[in-house]
Amino acid sequence: MITDSHTGPAIIRSAESADLPWLQEIEVAAGEQFRRLGMAAVADDEPPTLAELERLRRAGAAWVAAADDGTIVAYLVAEEVDGALHVEQVTVHPDAARRGLGRALIEHAAGHARDRALPALTLTTFRDVAWNAPYYERLGFRVLGDDELSPGLVRIRAAEAALGLDRWPRVCMRREL
Ligand SMILES: CC(C)(COP(=O)(O)OP(=O)(O)OC[C@H]1O[C@@H](n2cnc3c(N)ncnc32)[C@H](O)[C@@H]1OP(=O)(O)O)[C@@H](O)C(=O)NCCC(=O)NCCS
Repeated sequence: MITDSHTGPAIIRSAESADLPWLQEIEVAAGEQFRRLGMAAVADDEPPTLAELERLRRAGAAWVAAADDGTIVAYLVAEEVDGALHVEQVTVHPDAARRGLGRALIEHAAGHARDRALPALTLTTFRDVAWNAPYYERLGFRVLGDDELSPGLVRIRAAEAALGLDRWPRVCMRREL
């Protein structure tokens, strides 16, 4: 349990099907932060579909942070990619940001990966956005060189480029566990 003076305690638990529409809402709300950086296309990006969220949930790597009144304020979805746990999305509602929930969700995913003897977490993110690559660096991730990308990460990066995300520098990152 994470206690916080503003939101009260928050509990991390596995996501349930009924939670998934809230995850989409959190994604849209958090995306707004990109608009003021001139990255409106990111803000306007569709959230993950319910089908995609349900697929990740069923695979057993989808968690939410719920406030003590049950409100879901953050989530993380991940899946195994080339032998590492790949964080597909970690998002905190802006009203609950900067209170350690992002960090707690990443630590939760790290524990899940360790339990499965996976050696690392990976993710892709924007290099120059303060709450993206610099934030993950503080949590122990390092930027991978192009020659270090596994085939699955190359495919993920190609899919992101096809969606237009490479208008801003993006990087793959990895944290050893
Ligand atoms: C990235 C994210 C998950 C971090 O979660 P969080 O719970 O807010 O972060 P934590 O409380 O664990 O850590 C806080 C630190 O993150 C960084 N940070 C978070 N939000 C920030 C912001 N808007 N501007 C600058 N730094 C920010 C700061 O270093 C902050 O420390 P500080 O408050 O002492 O300055 C959250 O900001 C988010 O959902 N962002 C929008 C979605 C997103 O970018 N997802 C990742 C795409 S790859």
